[in-house]
Amino acid sequence: MITVGLIGAGYIGPIHLGALARLGGVRVKTVIDVNGELAQKAAAAYNVPNSGMDHREVINDPEIDVIHNCTPNKYHYQITKEALEGGKQVLSEKPLAMDLKEAEELVELAEKKRAITGIDFCYRYYPVVQEMAVRVRRGDAGAVRMVSGSYFQDWLSRETDWTWRLLRSESGESNITADLGSHWFDLIQFVTGLKVEEVIGDLATLIPVRRRPTRQVLAFEKVEEVESEEVKVELEDYSSVLFRLSNGAPGSFTTSQVCAGRKSDTEFQIYGSDCSYAWNHKEATVLWIGHREKANEILIENPTLQDPSTAAYASLPAGHPLGYHDAVMNLFKDYYEAVEGGGKGGELRPTFQTGFEEMKILEAILASHKKRSWVEVKV
Ligand SMILES: NC(=O)c1ccc[n+]([C@@H]2O[C@H](COP(=O)([O-])OP(=O)(O)OC[C@H]3O[C@@H](n4cnc5c(N)ncnc54)[C@H](O)[C@@H]3O)[C@@H](O)[C@H]2O)c1
Repeated sequence: MITVGLIGAGYIGPIHLGALARLGGVRVKTVIDVNGELAQKAAAAYNVPNSGMDHREVINDPEIDVIHNCTPNKYHYQITKEALEGGKQVLSEKPLAMDLKEAEELVELAEKKRAITGIDFCYRYYPVVQEMAVRVRRGDAGAVRMVSGSYFQDWLSRETDWTWRLLRSESGESNITADLGSHWFDLIQFVTGLKVEEVIGDLATLIPVRRRPTRQVLAFEKVEEVESEEVKVELEDYSSVLFRLSNGAPGSFTTSQVCAGRKSDTEFQIYGSDCSYAWNHKEATVLWIGHREKANEILIENPTLQDPSTAAYASLPAGHPLGYHDAVMNLFKDYYEAVEGGGKGGELRPTFQTGFEEMKILEAILASHKKRSWVEVKV
Protein backbone atom coordinates (compact mmCIF):
# COMPACT_ATOMS: atom_id res chain seq x y z
CA MET A 1 0.00 0.00 0.00
CA ILE A 2 1.40 3.40 -1.04
CA THR A 3 0.59 6.21 1.42
CA VAL A 4 -0.22 9.71 0.20
CA GLY A 5 -0.37 13.18 1.73
CA LEU A 6 -2.28 15.81 -0.27
CA ILE A 7 -1.66 19.54 0.12
CA GLY A 8 -4.24 22.09 -1.13
CA ALA A 9 -7.95 21.24 -0.89
CA GLY A 10 -9.46 23.98 -3.08
CA TYR A 11 -10.77 23.16 -6.56
CA ILE A 12 -8.27 20.62 -7.91
CA GLY A 13 -7.30 18.95 -4.60
CA PRO A 14 -10.65 17.13 -4.20
CA ILE A 15 -10.43 16.01 -7.85
CA HIS A 16 -7.10 14.34 -6.98
CA LEU A 17 -8.77 12.77 -3.93
CA GLY A 18 -11.59 11.37 -6.07
CA ALA A 19 -9.15 9.76 -8.49
CA LEU A 20 -6.95 8.44 -5.66
CA ALA A 21 -10.03 6.88 -4.02
CA ARG A 22 -10.56 4.82 -7.19
CA LEU A 23 -6.95 3.61 -7.47
CA GLY A 24 -6.02 0.27 -5.97
CA GLY A 25 -2.94 0.02 -3.74
CA VAL A 26 -3.01 3.66 -2.63
CA ARG A 27 -4.42 5.26 0.53
CA VAL A 28 -4.52 8.95 1.42
CA LYS A 29 -3.51 9.45 5.04
CA THR A 30 -3.75 13.24 5.44
CA VAL A 31 -5.20 16.28 3.65
CA ILE A 32 -3.58 19.67 4.35
CA ASP A 33 -4.91 23.15 3.60
CA VAL A 34 -4.04 26.49 5.22
CA ASN A 35 -7.81 26.81 5.39
CA GLY A 36 -8.39 24.10 7.99
CA GLU A 37 -12.12 23.91 7.30
CA LEU A 38 -11.51 23.04 3.64
CA ALA A 39 -8.97 20.38 4.63
CA GLN A 40 -11.45 18.83 7.07
CA LYS A 41 -14.30 18.91 4.58
CA ALA A 42 -12.23 17.28 1.84
CA ALA A 43 -10.86 14.63 4.22
CA ALA A 44 -14.38 13.77 5.40
CA ALA A 45 -15.74 13.59 1.86
CA TYR A 46 -13.10 11.07 0.78
CA ASN A 47 -12.74 9.05 4.01
CA VAL A 48 -9.25 10.37 4.70
CA PRO A 49 -8.49 9.86 8.41
CA ASN A 50 -6.47 13.04 9.08
CA SER A 51 -6.45 16.69 8.13
CA GLY A 52 -4.20 19.60 9.04
CA MET A 53 -3.12 23.11 8.15
CA ASP A 54 0.69 22.89 7.81
CA HIS A 55 2.31 21.10 4.85
CA ARG A 56 5.24 20.03 7.07
CA GLU A 57 2.89 17.62 8.86
CA VAL A 58 2.83 15.38 5.78
CA ILE A 59 6.41 16.03 4.68
CA ASN A 60 7.72 15.00 8.11
CA ASP A 61 5.44 11.96 8.35
CA PRO A 62 7.63 8.87 7.74
CA GLU A 63 4.58 6.79 6.75
CA ILE A 64 3.85 9.04 3.77
CA ASP A 65 5.50 8.03 0.49
CA VAL A 66 3.96 10.44 -2.05
CA ILE A 67 2.98 14.11 -1.85
CA HIS A 68 0.34 15.63 -4.15
CA ASN A 69 1.03 19.37 -4.37
CA CYS A 70 -2.32 21.03 -5.24
CA THR A 71 -1.52 24.50 -3.92
CA PRO A 72 -1.46 27.72 -5.99
CA ASN A 73 1.63 28.26 -8.18
CA LYS A 74 3.39 30.39 -5.56
CA TYR A 75 3.81 27.41 -3.24
CA HIS A 76 4.75 24.79 -5.83
CA TYR A 77 8.52 25.36 -5.58
CA GLN A 78 8.88 25.58 -1.81
CA ILE A 79 6.55 22.70 -0.93
CA THR A 80 7.84 20.42 -3.68
CA LYS A 81 11.46 21.21 -2.71
CA GLU A 82 10.80 20.39 0.95
CA ALA A 83 8.99 17.19 -0.07
CA LEU A 84 11.88 16.05 -2.28
CA GLU A 85 14.43 16.90 0.43
CA GLY A 86 12.29 14.84 2.82
CA GLY A 87 12.67 11.82 0.50
CA LYS A 88 9.11 11.90 -0.87
CA GLN A 89 7.90 11.17 -4.40
CA VAL A 90 5.95 14.13 -5.76
CA LEU A 91 3.02 14.61 -8.10
CA SER A 92 2.68 18.36 -8.66
CA GLU A 93 -0.01 20.49 -10.15
CA LYS A 94 0.97 22.55 -13.17
CA PRO A 95 2.77 24.82 -13.81
CA LEU A 96 5.80 23.19 -12.16
CA ALA A 97 6.95 26.47 -10.57
CA MET A 98 6.76 30.28 -10.86
CA ASP A 99 9.78 30.62 -13.17
CA LEU A 100 12.44 28.71 -15.08
CA LYS A 101 15.07 28.94 -12.34
CA GLU A 102 12.75 27.35 -9.78
CA ALA A 103 11.68 24.68 -12.27
CA GLU A 104 15.28 23.79 -13.13
CA GLU A 105 16.19 23.48 -9.46
CA LEU A 106 13.26 21.11 -8.87
CA VAL A 107 14.24 18.93 -11.84
CA GLU A 108 17.85 18.73 -10.60
CA LEU A 109 16.80 17.98 -7.02
CA ALA A 110 14.34 15.30 -8.16
CA GLU A 111 17.09 13.67 -10.24
CA LYS A 112 19.52 13.79 -7.33
CA LYS A 113 16.95 12.21 -5.04
CA ARG A 114 15.88 9.71 -7.74
CA ALA A 115 12.31 10.77 -7.03
CA ILE A 116 9.41 9.55 -9.16
CA THR A 117 7.83 12.74 -10.42
CA GLY A 118 4.59 13.56 -12.17
CA ILE A 119 2.76 16.71 -13.20
CA ASP A 120 -0.96 16.93 -13.87
CA PHE A 121 -1.18 17.64 -17.60
CA CYS A 122 -4.33 15.55 -17.57
CA TYR A 123 -5.75 16.40 -21.02
CA ARG A 124 -3.26 14.06 -22.72
CA TYR A 125 -4.94 11.23 -20.83
CA TYR A 126 -8.28 11.33 -22.63
CA PRO A 127 -8.33 7.94 -24.40
CA VAL A 128 -8.71 9.34 -27.93
CA VAL A 129 -5.92 11.87 -27.34
CA GLN A 130 -3.68 8.92 -26.48
CA GLU A 131 -4.93 7.24 -29.66
CA MET A 132 -4.19 10.33 -31.74
CA ALA A 133 -0.65 10.43 -30.30
CA VAL A 134 0.03 6.81 -31.29
CA ARG A 135 -1.26 7.39 -34.83
CA VAL A 136 0.45 10.73 -35.45
CA ARG A 137 3.76 9.56 -34.00
CA ARG A 138 3.78 6.39 -36.11
CA GLY A 139 3.22 8.53 -39.22
CA ASP A 140 -0.47 7.93 -40.03
CA ALA A 141 -0.90 11.68 -40.72
CA GLY A 142 2.24 11.77 -42.86
CA ALA A 143 4.52 14.73 -42.16
CA VAL A 144 3.02 17.22 -39.71
CA ARG A 145 2.56 20.41 -41.74
CA MET A 146 0.75 22.71 -39.30
CA VAL A 147 -0.95 22.76 -35.91
CA SER A 148 -3.57 25.14 -34.59
CA GLY A 149 -5.98 25.48 -31.70
CA SER A 150 -7.34 27.40 -28.77
CA TYR A 151 -8.40 27.26 -25.14
CA PHE A 152 -11.28 29.55 -24.13
CA GLN A 153 -13.09 29.95 -20.80
CA ASP A 154 -15.55 32.50 -19.39
CA TRP A 155 -15.21 32.22 -15.62
CA LEU A 156 -13.21 35.50 -15.49
CA SER A 157 -15.34 37.43 -18.00
CA ARG A 158 -16.89 39.85 -15.46
CA GLU A 159 -15.09 42.56 -13.47
CA THR A 160 -16.39 40.87 -10.32
CA ASP A 161 -14.73 37.55 -11.22
CA TRP A 162 -11.54 36.93 -9.28
CA THR A 163 -8.74 34.39 -8.84
CA TRP A 164 -5.27 34.45 -7.30
CA ARG A 165 -4.09 33.56 -10.84
CA LEU A 166 -4.34 37.28 -11.71
CA LEU A 167 -1.71 38.24 -9.12
CA ARG A 168 1.98 38.23 -10.03
CA SER A 169 2.86 37.42 -6.41
CA GLU A 170 0.70 34.23 -6.48
CA SER A 171 0.96 33.13 -10.08
CA GLY A 172 4.36 34.22 -11.43
CA GLU A 173 4.83 36.39 -14.53
CA SER A 174 1.83 34.89 -16.32
CA ASN A 175 -1.79 34.07 -15.64
CA ILE A 176 -3.37 32.34 -18.60
CA THR A 177 -0.33 31.45 -20.71
CA ALA A 178 1.02 29.51 -17.72
CA ASP A 179 -2.37 28.13 -16.71
CA LEU A 180 -4.13 27.07 -19.93
CA GLY A 181 -1.24 27.52 -22.37
CA SER A 182 0.84 24.91 -20.51
CA HIS A 183 -1.98 22.34 -20.94
CA TRP A 184 -2.33 23.12 -24.65
CA PHE A 185 1.37 23.04 -25.49
CA ASP A 186 1.66 19.78 -23.56
CA LEU A 187 -1.13 18.33 -25.71
CA ILE A 188 0.40 19.22 -29.05
CA GLN A 189 3.98 18.28 -28.09
CA PHE A 190 2.75 14.96 -26.70
CA VAL A 191 0.64 14.11 -29.74
CA THR A 192 3.16 15.12 -32.42
CA GLY A 193 6.33 14.12 -30.56
CA LEU A 194 7.72 17.45 -31.82
CA LYS A 195 9.05 20.34 -29.73
CA VAL A 196 8.05 24.00 -29.84
CA GLU A 197 11.31 25.68 -30.87
CA GLU A 198 10.43 29.30 -31.58
CA VAL A 199 7.55 31.57 -30.55
CA ILE A 200 6.10 35.03 -30.91
CA GLY A 201 3.53 35.94 -28.28
CA ASP A 202 1.01 38.74 -27.99
CA LEU A 203 -0.51 39.10 -24.52
CA ALA A 204 -3.23 41.44 -23.29
CA THR A 205 -5.23 42.23 -20.16
CA LEU A 206 -8.76 42.62 -21.49
CA ILE A 207 -10.21 43.46 -18.06
CA PRO A 208 -7.58 45.82 -16.58
CA VAL A 209 -9.49 46.67 -13.37
CA ARG A 210 -11.41 44.13 -11.27
CA ARG A 211 -13.19 43.82 -7.93
CA ARG A 212 -11.12 41.64 -5.58
CA PRO A 213 -13.16 39.92 -2.84
CA THR A 214 -11.92 40.52 0.69
CA ARG A 215 -12.47 36.82 1.54
CA GLN A 216 -10.83 33.74 -0.04
CA VAL A 217 -12.45 32.54 -3.29
CA LEU A 218 -11.70 29.22 -4.91
CA ALA A 219 -11.25 28.62 -8.63
CA PHE A 220 -14.53 28.84 -10.59
CA GLU A 221 -16.44 30.16 -7.54
CA LYS A 222 -19.17 32.76 -8.25
CA VAL A 223 -18.33 35.86 -6.23
CA GLU A 224 -20.76 38.63 -7.22
CA GLU A 225 -22.31 39.05 -3.78
CA VAL A 226 -19.16 39.33 -1.65
CA GLU A 227 -17.47 42.45 -0.24
CA SER A 228 -14.68 43.52 -2.59
CA GLU A 229 -12.09 46.19 -3.38
CA GLU A 230 -10.97 47.64 -6.72
CA VAL A 231 -7.59 46.43 -8.02
CA LYS A 232 -5.50 47.01 -11.14
CA VAL A 233 -4.89 43.63 -12.80
CA GLU A 234 -1.20 42.78 -13.26
CA LEU A 235 -1.34 39.75 -15.54
CA GLU A 236 -2.77 38.79 -18.93
CA ASP A 237 -6.22 37.26 -19.50
CA TYR A 238 -5.59 36.87 -23.25
CA SER A 239 -2.68 35.33 -25.09
CA SER A 240 -2.02 34.54 -28.73
CA VAL A 241 1.06 32.65 -29.86
CA LEU A 242 2.52 31.83 -33.26
CA PHE A 243 5.16 29.10 -33.09
CA ARG A 244 7.43 26.82 -35.08
CA LEU A 245 7.84 23.14 -34.28
CA SER A 246 11.12 21.22 -34.43
CA ASN A 247 10.31 19.92 -37.95
CA GLY A 248 9.74 23.50 -39.14
CA ALA A 249 5.92 23.22 -39.12
CA PRO A 250 4.14 26.45 -38.13
CA GLY A 251 1.38 26.70 -35.55
CA SER A 252 -0.96 29.10 -33.81
CA PHE A 253 -2.74 29.15 -30.45
CA THR A 254 -5.10 31.62 -28.77
CA THR A 255 -6.43 31.52 -25.22
CA SER A 256 -8.54 33.71 -22.97
CA GLN A 257 -10.70 33.41 -19.83
CA VAL A 258 -13.07 36.25 -20.75
CA CYS A 259 -15.03 34.56 -23.58
CA ALA A 260 -18.70 34.48 -22.53
CA GLY A 261 -20.24 31.10 -23.22
CA ARG A 262 -16.94 29.21 -23.40
CA LYS A 263 -16.50 27.00 -20.34
CA SER A 264 -13.40 24.87 -20.73
CA ASP A 265 -13.25 24.80 -24.50
CA THR A 266 -9.93 23.57 -25.70
CA GLU A 267 -9.30 22.08 -29.11
CA PHE A 268 -6.42 21.38 -31.44
CA GLN A 269 -5.91 20.30 -35.01
CA ILE A 270 -2.95 18.56 -36.59
CA TYR A 271 -2.69 18.85 -40.37
CA GLY A 272 -0.40 16.26 -41.97
CA SER A 273 0.63 15.53 -45.55
CA ASP A 274 -1.66 12.44 -45.62
CA CYS A 275 -4.58 13.31 -43.32
CA SER A 276 -5.69 15.51 -40.44
CA TYR A 277 -6.57 14.86 -36.80
CA ALA A 278 -8.64 17.05 -34.49
CA TRP A 279 -9.89 16.87 -30.90
CA ASN A 280 -12.22 19.12 -28.95
CA HIS A 281 -12.74 18.97 -25.18
CA LYS A 282 -16.51 19.56 -25.61
CA GLU A 283 -16.71 16.18 -27.37
CA ALA A 284 -13.87 14.57 -25.52
CA THR A 285 -14.65 11.03 -26.64
CA VAL A 286 -14.45 11.90 -30.35
CA LEU A 287 -11.37 11.74 -32.55
CA TRP A 288 -11.93 13.44 -35.92
CA ILE A 289 -9.85 12.20 -38.83
CA GLY A 290 -9.99 14.29 -41.99
CA HIS A 291 -9.30 12.98 -45.53
CA ARG A 292 -9.03 14.50 -48.99
CA GLU A 293 -9.95 11.53 -51.21
CA LYS A 294 -12.48 9.69 -49.04
CA ALA A 295 -15.09 10.47 -46.41
CA ASN A 296 -13.87 11.83 -43.10
CA GLU A 297 -13.90 9.49 -40.11
CA ILE A 298 -15.02 9.78 -36.51
CA LEU A 299 -13.53 7.38 -33.99
CA ILE A 300 -15.49 7.35 -30.75
CA GLU A 301 -13.50 6.19 -27.72
CA ASN A 302 -13.61 2.39 -27.89
CA PRO A 303 -11.25 -0.13 -26.29
CA THR A 304 -11.83 -2.66 -29.08
CA LEU A 305 -11.12 -0.23 -31.94
CA GLN A 306 -8.17 1.65 -30.41
CA ASP A 307 -4.55 0.60 -30.68
CA PRO A 308 -3.83 -2.03 -27.98
CA SER A 309 -1.41 0.42 -26.31
CA THR A 310 -4.20 2.99 -25.71
CA ALA A 311 -7.15 0.64 -25.16
CA ALA A 312 -6.50 0.42 -21.42
CA TYR A 313 -7.10 4.18 -21.09
CA ALA A 314 -10.62 3.67 -22.54
CA SER A 315 -11.52 1.60 -19.50
CA LEU A 316 -15.28 1.25 -20.10
CA PRO A 317 -17.07 -0.61 -22.89
CA ALA A 318 -17.76 1.48 -26.02
CA GLY A 319 -20.67 3.88 -25.56
CA HIS A 320 -19.91 4.64 -21.92
CA PRO A 321 -18.10 7.97 -22.17
CA LEU A 322 -15.16 8.85 -19.94
CA GLY A 323 -14.60 12.41 -18.71
CA TYR A 324 -12.26 14.78 -16.90
CA HIS A 325 -12.14 12.71 -13.69
CA ASP A 326 -11.13 9.70 -15.75
CA ALA A 327 -8.38 11.59 -17.57
CA VAL A 328 -6.90 12.54 -14.19
CA MET A 329 -7.35 8.94 -13.05
CA ASN A 330 -5.53 7.62 -16.15
CA LEU A 331 -2.60 9.92 -15.40
CA PHE A 332 -2.50 8.76 -11.78
CA LYS A 333 -2.59 5.11 -12.88
CA ASP A 334 0.56 5.66 -14.92
CA TYR A 335 2.20 7.70 -12.17
CA TYR A 336 1.54 5.06 -9.50
CA GLU A 337 2.68 2.29 -11.83
CA ALA A 338 6.00 4.16 -11.96
CA VAL A 339 6.04 4.61 -8.17
CA GLU A 340 5.34 0.90 -7.62
CA GLY A 341 7.95 -0.09 -10.19
CA GLY A 342 10.60 2.19 -8.66
CA GLY A 343 10.68 4.26 -11.87
CA LYS A 344 9.77 1.46 -14.30
CA GLY A 345 6.38 1.68 -16.01
CA GLY A 346 4.06 4.63 -16.58
CA GLU A 347 6.43 5.98 -19.25
CA LEU A 348 3.75 8.09 -20.95
CA ARG A 349 3.21 10.25 -17.91
CA PRO A 350 4.37 13.86 -17.85
CA THR A 351 7.24 14.34 -15.37
CA PHE A 352 9.01 17.34 -13.84
CA GLN A 353 11.12 17.38 -17.01
CA THR A 354 7.87 17.93 -18.98
CA GLY A 355 6.94 20.74 -16.59
CA PHE A 356 10.41 22.27 -17.05
CA GLU A 357 10.05 22.18 -20.84
CA GLU A 358 6.67 23.89 -20.54
CA MET A 359 8.27 26.63 -18.42
CA LYS A 360 10.85 27.16 -21.18
CA ILE A 361 8.05 27.72 -23.71
CA LEU A 362 6.34 30.11 -21.31
CA GLU A 363 9.53 32.12 -20.71
CA ALA A 364 10.11 32.43 -24.46
CA ILE A 365 6.51 33.64 -25.01
CA LEU A 366 6.84 36.25 -22.25
CA ALA A 367 10.21 37.43 -23.59
CA SER A 368 8.89 37.66 -27.15
CA HIS A 369 5.85 39.65 -26.02
CA LYS A 370 8.18 42.14 -24.32
CA LYS A 371 10.54 42.36 -27.32
CA ARG A 372 7.76 42.23 -29.93
CA SER A 373 9.74 39.66 -31.92
CA TRP A 374 10.40 35.92 -32.34
CA VAL A 375 12.29 34.18 -29.49
CA GLU A 376 13.86 30.71 -29.50
CA VAL A 377 12.80 28.30 -26.76
CA LYS A 378 15.88 27.37 -24.69
CA VAL A 379 17.08 23.83 -25.27
N1 LIG B 1 -4.46 20.06 -14.03
C1 LIG B 1 -5.56 20.78 -14.10
O1 LIG B 1 -6.44 20.56 -14.95
C2 LIG B 1 -5.75 21.91 -13.11
C3 LIG B 1 -7.03 22.49 -12.90
C4 LIG B 1 -7.16 23.50 -11.94
C5 LIG B 1 -6.06 23.93 -11.23
N2 LIG B 1 -4.82 23.38 -11.47
C6 LIG B 1 -3.63 23.84 -10.71
O2 LIG B 1 -3.81 23.48 -9.35
C7 LIG B 1 -3.27 24.47 -8.49
C8 LIG B 1 -4.35 24.90 -7.50
O3 LIG B 1 -5.41 25.50 -8.23
P1 LIG B 1 -6.93 25.50 -7.72
O4 LIG B 1 -7.73 25.86 -8.90
O5 LIG B 1 -7.24 24.25 -6.97
O6 LIG B 1 -6.89 26.75 -6.72
P2 LIG B 1 -7.85 27.04 -5.49
O7 LIG B 1 -7.61 28.45 -5.10
O8 LIG B 1 -9.25 26.60 -5.79
O9 LIG B 1 -7.28 26.08 -4.35
C9 LIG B 1 -6.00 26.21 -3.79
C10 LIG B 1 -6.06 25.73 -2.34
O10 LIG B 1 -4.71 25.73 -1.80
C11 LIG B 1 -4.78 26.21 -0.46
N3 LIG B 1 -3.47 26.72 -0.09
C12 LIG B 1 -2.89 27.89 -0.42
N4 LIG B 1 -1.64 27.95 0.08
C13 LIG B 1 -1.43 26.80 0.76
C14 LIG B 1 -0.33 26.30 1.51
N5 LIG B 1 0.80 26.98 1.63
N6 LIG B 1 -0.47 25.08 2.07
C15 LIG B 1 -1.62 24.37 1.95
N7 LIG B 1 -2.69 24.81 1.26
C16 LIG B 1 -2.59 26.01 0.66
C17 LIG B 1 -5.88 27.28 -0.50
O11 LIG B 1 -6.40 27.54 0.80
C18 LIG B 1 -6.90 26.63 -1.45
O12 LIG B 1 -7.83 25.86 -0.75
C19 LIG B 1 -2.77 25.59 -9.41
O13 LIG B 1 -1.38 25.51 -9.55
C20 LIG B 1 -3.46 25.35 -10.74
O14 LIG B 1 -2.70 25.75 -11.86
C21 LIG B 1 -4.67 22.40 -12.39
